[in-house]
Amino acid sequence: MGIAFSRRLQRRTGLLAVLAVVHFTPTASPVRAQDKNPLANDSNAAKLGEFEFRANCAFCHGLGARGGGRGPDLTRAQKKHGNSDADLFRTINEGVPGTAMPQNGATQQGVGMTEEEIWQVISYIRSVQVKTSVPPAGNAAHGKELFAGPAACATCHMIEGKGGRLGPGLTTTGSARSVEYIVDSVRNPSRRLAQGITEAMKEFSQEYETVTVVDDRGQKFPGVVLNEDNFTLQMLDTHEQLHFFEKDKLRSFDKSRESLMPKYDEKMLPEKDLQDIVAYLLSLGGSK
Ligand code: HEC
Ligand code: HEC
Repeated sequence: MGIAFSRRLQRRTGLLAVLAVVHFTPTASPVRAQDKNPLANDSNAAKLGEFEFRANCAFCHGLGARGGGRGPDLTRAQKKHGNSDADLFRTINEGVPGTAMPQNGATQQGVGMTEEEIWQVISYIRSVQVKTSVPPAGNAAHGKELFAGPAACATCHMIEGKGGRLGPGLTTTGSARSVEYIVDSVRNPSRRLAQGITEAMKEFSQEYETVTVVDDRGQKFPGVVLNEDNFTLQMLDTHEQLHFFEKDKLRSFDKSRESLMPKYDEKMLPEKDLQDIVAYLLSLGGSK
């Protein structure tokens, strides 16, 4: 009796399994962390992955994965943290510690993706990825010279420990930002500051607001905000002097959305030189 029952059960579960395969492949089949994407070349998986991507990743990596202000272009064939399916899985699941790249489940929504959804996202990334890596058009060696010399970027930006502190360090910018974003940062430095900054983005973008302080003795300090609360303001002036002010002791302080970075138009920095600087930034930090 018991045996007959279990046989019947076996037959039924067998049938169910077949049905599941017929109707739900691949979404209902178990997906385990493995070396190869089990959903590779599945265009439906790529579509589902695109949906996931928009919800969880586009905020930083841009629509179409082409990169944005907060995350690199993922259509590049060469990935800094590894190109294999397993590398991508690991990066997406574990994040990149010490960078804005969050661990799975640590995004604002706080909802983690299942392993299957991660593979779908990887299918999507593969579907938009360029086939071969195009070397950046510019000349990185010349870009390096310009950066430290005539273009004066290094007076405000540090690369690998050398340079000024008024602007953000740029060592990882090439691997963390899209080319379009870098170009725009140079040609229109204020545009990004002027962009609507949502609550969720604030923790990343508060730092480099421009501020002009006039202290109780009438001395004027232009610079960038490092830290601010209701009562105090910490800022770095254009001579890289750090100041800590109590707001109620100041004659005035004005914050502005006008970047302290000069706007480099084509006269100041010809397009070709900008390409060289971009190539230099891309050559740093491992994104080949
Ligand atoms: C809050 C911003 C942010 C979010 C959200 C985010 N990323 Fe990232 N991601 C980054 C940054 C910044 C890096 C670059 C890290 C570094 O400096 O190496 C990165 C790197 C990566 C890399 C490695 C690229 C390489 O060259 O190796 C992959 C792959 C990636 N992200 C995929 C995703 C996916 C998929 C999602 C959504 C599930 C996502 N990211 C969500 C900011 C983000
Ligand atoms: C007078 C100081 C100054 C000079 C000179 C300067 N910058 Fe900047 N830069 C800044 C400041 C301040 C910011 C932050 C505010 C902003 O985004 O505009 C910034 C932002 C940037 C950003 C955006 C970084 C990010 O992670 O969002 C890039 C890229 C950049 N600068 C590149 C350059 C390059 C390339 C040059 C030389 C051609 C240069 N800068 C010259 C002060 C400067």
